[in-house]
Amino acid sequence: MIKACVIGWPIAHSRSPLIHGYWLKTYGIEGSYTRIPVEPQNLRAFVEGLRANGFAGCNVTMPHKEEVFRLVKVADEQTRRLGSLNTVYVENGTLYGTSTDGLGFLANLKSTVPALNLRNRKVVLLGAGGSAAAIAGNLLAEGVAELCIVNRSLPRAQAIADRFGSGIRPVGWDRRSVELAEASLLINTTSLGMAGQAQLDISLAALPSGAVVADIVYTPLVTDFLMAAQAAGYPVVTGLGMLLHQAVPGFEKWFGRRPVVTRELYELTARDIDPTYRP
Ligand SMILES: NC(=O)c1ccc[n+]([C@@H]2O[C@H](COP(=O)([O-])OP(=O)(O)OC[C@H]3O[C@@H](n4cnc5c(N)ncnc54)[C@H](OP(=O)(O)O)[C@@H]3O)[C@@H](O)[C@H]2O)c1
Repeated sequence: MIKACVIGWPIAHSRSPLIHGYWLKTYGIEGSYTRIPVEPQNLRAFVEGLRANGFAGCNVTMPHKEEVFRLVKVADEQTRRLGSLNTVYVENGTLYGTSTDGLGFLANLKSTVPALNLRNRKVVLLGAGGSAAAIAGNLLAEGVAELCIVNRSLPRAQAIADRFGSGIRPVGWDRRSVELAEASLLINTTSLGMAGQAQLDISLAALPSGAVVADIVYTPLVTDFLMAAQAAGYPVVTGLGMLLHQAVPGFEKWFGRRPVVTRELYELTARDIDPTYRP
């Protein structure tokens, strides 16, 4: 019986057990994936005892992503630059960690809009929080020529540029609409548009036709921002797919099988978020 879990404080909201539970059942794997609340003062002991307690690894969510980064070995350069992670696994007896959010965003983008090629293109990223930083690293790795990070607090956008180097241009929030000229991809990573938050206020007038518009917010499943982009004729990418795709590398490391993000899994998770969801 292979065991994995997700740790956070609090953790009750996590949808990871639904996703991994679906794959365990689909592939007939004898394993478990549970939620474990871990208080910050117990974090080190929990991570250090992970193997002894029979876990193949875990997902890590708020507020532990930076602290666990300091407790495990990080093999990939992207995650090292990021300084935070969401996935821990055991390899040759050692605990490793990696961040899969950026990979998940790109995998979802490519599966939704397979024709999109980002090499030498301009991308506008709204927001400079944890998920923006994760996505920025993977966008640069795709060969994006200019990554314009637009954020309310300019120092946070500058901090991502400092971590990931040239190619990133930090810009103040008041320029969010004018910066869209010549962009091939626009991504919202702010919490604006999320249930209970203010709406994202932006004009798409300068965004070239054919540009792709993505939102990583997935509550609601389709934000007002995406609905407006869709109504204006832009191809859109919703946030739920990123949540599903970021889970793939962890499942593969722990349970030894690369899982597929199916339509059925999308609908299962969508109904969990919004019981009125209809495909
Ligand atoms: N689809 C997925 O798998 C996935 C994964 C992770 C996160 N998410 C979603 O992505 C969103 C952001 O997550 P995060 O972890 O990156 O959050 P975060 O680190 O707290 O960052 C929040 C971002 O939103 C900006 N923001 C908040 N209120 C704003 C306002 N009134 N006006 C302008 N900007 C504002 C912040 O700007 P300042 O820096 O100026 O404060 C910051 O850039 C959340 O809705 C989360 O649920 C989705």
